Amino acid sequence: MKDKQILITGASSGIGKETARALGNLGAHIFFTGRHREKDLNIQEELRQDTGNPDIYYYHCDLASFESITAFTSEFKKSYKALDILINNAGIWNSKKVLTRDGIESHLAVNYLAPFLMTSQLLPLLKNSPSARIINLTSGIHFRGKLDLDDLEFNRRKWRSIDAYTQSKLCNILFTRSLAGKLIGTNISVNCIAPGWVNTGLFRDAVQVVKISASLLAMSPMKAARGLVHLAAAGELEDVSGEYFAGMNIRKSSPASYDRQLSDKLWKKSEEYLKDYI
Ligand SMILES: NC(=O)c1ccc[n+]([C@@H]2O[C@H](COP(=O)([O-])OP(=O)(O)OC[C@H]3O[C@@H](n4cnc5c(N)ncnc54)[C@H](OP(=O)(O)O)[C@@H]3O)[C@@H](O)[C@H]2O)c1
Repeated sequence: MKDKQILITGASSGIGKETARALGNLGAHIFFTGRHREKDLNIQEELRQDTGNPDIYYYHCDLASFESITAFTSEFKKSYKALDILINNAGIWNSKKVLTRDGIESHLAVNYLAPFLMTSQLLPLLKNSPSARIINLTSGIHFRGKLDLDDLEFNRRKWRSIDAYTQSKLCNILFTRSLAGKLIGTNISVNCIAPGWVNTGLFRDAVQVVKISASLLAMSPMKAARGLVHLAAAGELEDVSGEYFAGMNIRKSSPASYDRQLSDKLWKKSEEYLKDYI
């Protein structure tokens, strides 16, 4: 990992922060994005001190805004010509239906469309690496996800946080598989990972019983980060692409996540959403 250039979205807490710390410890150059400048600059300092690695840099980027993502990638592309690893980690689980600044249901926008846009805009830099990897965060709970291409934002279906979240995580896998197909023969691999149940801020909005069970039963973010580090660093994964990892291991994902027609249609829909930005 020494001197590899790695971008991690959402490293201000949870799994992203511990992954940044672990990869920083291995000597990588870490760039992480966050939406709260002051807090995130403190985290930049904390990670530099803890790892003894000065090459850890914070960039402002609000993933709930396509404009903010575009502003970030434009700035990043001015400073760097190559990127070795992109980890699309940031995610949300909201208890209420919230629309982003772009007017889009927040789980769809932040958990799915944001990684799609970030990846599309950074592909030229990934192509300039001798061997690049993209890692998308999904979840084991995607098995419950139902994708309705005519109602991605739950305008016709009743909105429930679990349904919006699981749909977005199913989208992450379909995106990973489509992209892997498009990247065959290039220097870039793309895989997704379900880290397991992890005690993080993801549940900050959840009912008390979920928060308490997470604090008692879920694994630590540090342990979950091992799966991401493995995907980023393991030499034997060099040619592995389009796979679903549960922690360290390749596993079968839900039947819907292998549906080629569904993933093609989702890709087209995503491009429509993002037509002004890609
Ligand atoms: N925890 C689990 O059990 C679990 C299980 C399966 C999958 N996952 C996935 O793992 C990933 C990481 O989640 P986590 O569990 O580590 O949760 P977390 O501690 O809440 O971390 C989420 C990160 O995403 C950032 N983020 C959220 N909305 C953002 C926005 N609009 N713009 C920029 N950054 C934003 C957060 O920043 P702020 O600090 O500013 O909010 C935070 O850094 C997510 O994709 C999640 O779906 C988690």
